[in-house]
Amino acid sequence: MNISFHLNGDPVTLRDPAPTATLLDWLRTTRCLTGTKEGCNEGDCGACSVIVQDDRGTQALNACILFLPQLHGKSVRTVEGIAAPDGTLHPVQQAMIDHHGSQCGFCTPGFIAAMTAAHANGATDHDDQLAGNLCRCTGYAPIIRAAEEAATRPVPDHIAAHPASDLPDTEPAMLPRSSAELAGLYAAHPEATLVAGATDVGLWVTKQLRDLDPLIFLHRCDDLRDITVDDETITIGAMVNMNDLRAALAPLHPSYAEMLRRYASQQIRAAATLGGNIANASPIGDNPPALIALGATLHLRHGEARRTLPLEEFFVDYGKQDRAPGEFVEKVTISRQPDRLRVYKLSKRFDQDISAVLGAFNITVEDGTVTAARIAFGGMAATPKRAAHVEAAITGQPWCEETIAGAWDAWAEDFSPLSDMRASARYRLDAARNMLTRCLLDDLGAQTSVLEVSA
Ligand SMILES: Cc1cc2nc3c(=O)[nH]c(=O)nc-3n(C[C@H](O)[C@H](O)[C@H](O)COP(=O)(O)OP(=O)(O)OC[C@H]3O[C@@H](n4cnc5c(N)ncnc54)[C@H](O)[C@@H]3O)c2cc1C
Ligand code: FES
Ligand code: FES
Repeated sequence: MNISFHLNGDPVTLRDPAPTATLLDWLRTTRCLTGTKEGCNEGDCGACSVIVQDDRGTQALNACILFLPQLHGKSVRTVEGIAAPDGTLHPVQQAMIDHHGSQCGFCTPGFIAAMTAAHANGATDHDDQLAGNLCRCTGYAPIIRAAEEAATRPVPDHIAAHPASDLPDTEPAMLPRSSAELAGLYAAHPEATLVAGATDVGLWVTKQLRDLDPLIFLHRCDDLRDITVDDETITIGAMVNMNDLRAALAPLHPSYAEMLRRYASQQIRAAATLGGNIANASPIGDNPPALIALGATLHLRHGEARRTLPLEEFFVDYGKQDRAPGEFVEKVTISRQPDRLRVYKLSKRFDQDISAVLGAFNITVEDGTVTAARIAFGGMAATPKRAAHVEAAITGQPWCEETIAGAWDAWAEDFSPLSDMRASARYRLDAARNMLTRCLLDDLGAQTSVLEVSA
C-alpha cells in the first residue's frame, strides 16, 4: 500500500508503510523532525500537535495517535514548517515570543501547531482551542495573550493553501472511498479492524502494543460524513467528527452541543467520529446516552444488507454489541422534536476528561405534569443504559421536587454502578440522582452551570 501526502509543502510517497506506524514516530525517527514532541503518547497533552489540511479544511491533530495511512492525500505541517519559506515567523510564533509564551519550551511546538490551526480557521475561543495542550510552566495567560494578539494578524499565504493536487493518483487497497466500497471490502475481510478517527484504536497500538492486521481506514468515505436535517429527521453519518456534530447540533439541541465542547480536546474532536464512539461500546462514551434520550435509531450495514435498531438495543452487555462480523455503523437518525434535552457531563477535570457519569434527560412536561420521559446514563452500568424505573416513577407525576424525592428508590433498581478510579459507586448514584434535580432547576430557570454559579 503506497501513500502520498505533503509534508511542510513537499510531496512525500511512502512505499508499504506499516499501517499502524504513527506520524509522530515517523517524523521523529525517519525524518529527524524532532520539533514535534512526545509527551503522553495517548492524545492527552497536545505536545505532538501538527496541522493537517485537506479539502475539508485545516485541523490540529495529535500525531501520536495518527496512523500514516490516515494522511493519504492530505498536507501535514509540523512546527518546522510553520514559518514562511523565507524564514519570516508566523504571527503565532512572533506573538508567542513577544508575550513570553514559552519557558521550558517542551509544550511550545504543540501550542504553536494548535494555535496556527485555530488562527487559520479564524477561531477566537482560545480556551477551548487550547484545552488539549498542557503547559507546566507559563500558567497559560501569556499563551492566551499571544493567541489574542495573533488573531489580529492575517493568515499567511503558505498556511492558507492546501497543495494536494500534485500528489500521485494512487488508490490504496484498504482505504475505501465510499460506504459502498467499504461495505464490499469489510464483508470480504470481516476480521479487519476498522479505523475511523483512531482515537481509540491509536491507543491499542501505543499503549497496549497490539498488532492489528488487517486494517480498513474509513476516513476517505466522504458520504459517511454527511449531516442532513429536514422537517422529520436529523441524519448523522458514522464518520461525522465531534466538532462537526457539535456545530450541527448547536441550534437543534444546544445542551448536547455544549456537552460536546467538553468532549476531549479540539484535536481529539477533530478526529473522533460518532461511529467510533458508538461502535467501541464504551460504558462511558459521551454520545450514546444523549442519543438514547433522543430516541435515536442506529443504521447498520453488511454488504448490501441494511438493518436498523433502537440505539439502546445495540449495547447488549459489557464488550458485547449487536453487530455481526463485517457489519458496520453507517449512520444514526433522530426524529425532529421540540428541544427538551439536557445533558450533564460530570468529570474530574472540566476540559479534556472522560466522564465519571453522564446523564441525558428528555422530559416532556404538560400543564405541570410529566407526560413522557427518556433518561439515559453513561458511567452507571456496563453499557450506556436507560433509567427505566426512574422514568416510570416520574411519568404522570407533577414535575416538582416531591416527585424527584419519590423516585429515590427507583435509581437503585436501575443502576448498581461500579467503584473505580473516576468515582465510587455511591458517588455515582448520588450524582445521578442530583442530576435529575438539576434538570428540574434548569427547567425552573435557575443557573446550574458551574461556569455561571457564583457565591
Ligand atoms: C485523549 C482522549 C480523550 C477522549 N475523551 C473522550 C470523551 O471526552 N468522551 C468520549 O466519549 N470519548 C472520549 N475519548 C474516546 C474516543 O475519542 C471516542 O470513543 C471516539 O469517539 C472514538 O472514535 P474514533 O473515530 O476515533 O474511533 P476509532 O478509534 O477509529 O475506532 C473505535 C472502535 O470503533 C470501531 N469503528 C469505528 N468506526 C466504525 C464504524 N463506522 N462501524 C463499526 N465500527 C467502527 C473501530 O473498529 C474500533 O473498534 C477520548 C479519547 C482520547 C484519546
Ligand atoms: S504525545 Fe501527548 S497528545 Fe500526543
Ligand atoms: S513552557 Fe514548559 S511546559 Fe510549557
